[in-house]
Amino acid sequence: MSAIEIVDGRKIRIRFDAKKCIHSRGCVLSHPEVFVPNVQGEWIHPDAAAPEAVAEIAHQCPSGAIAYERLDGGPEEEAPKVNLVRLRENGPLAFHGALRLAGAEIGFRATLCRCGASKNKPYCDGSHASAGFVASGEVAVLADWPQRQNAALTVRLTVLPEPEKPSIGP
Ligand code: SF4
Ligand code: FES
Repeated sequence: MSAIEIVDGRKIRIRFDAKKCIHSRGCVLSHPEVFVPNVQGEWIHPDAAAPEAVAEIAHQCPSGAIAYERLDGGPEEEAPKVNLVRLRENGPLAFHGALRLAGAEIGFRATLCRCGASKNKPYCDGSHASAGFVASGEVAVLADWPQRQNAALTVRLTVLPEPEKPSIGP
């Protein structure tokens, strides 16, 4: 299988870049008639759903592995009004915006490695799972937090000696 598959339907063209895919499985779980899981051979079927639905599958693909081009004059994907970066639990950073990488446009969605183990940097390649990367993004809770919360506040005051006054005269 080549890294990038391009499949034309009657109304929409799908581009699938396997090297960007983080295997979140959103595409095959939400629309298995378009992205058919666990089959040999052709698994992308752009005509199996309305082009708007196919476009929405792409919009929900966090890695940008799925992109599309409308062949029916319908609207193409646009950058969001607000740039976003989401922290995926135990995984990559997911960017949503008009993205450039080393000066080159790379589309509107990308998941970049946060664990350091990817073999396709800066993209995440799913290696965070085998690397055992754990980083929820939540604020760490101290083990003794209840005791700390109830502990009385102790204030220590230190009284400093008065500074010596300079002596005047003989
Ligand atoms: S990253 Fe995109 S292409 Fe890969 S499984 Fe998830 S939704 Fe599908
Ligand atoms: S975060 Fe996925 S490979 Fe590093």
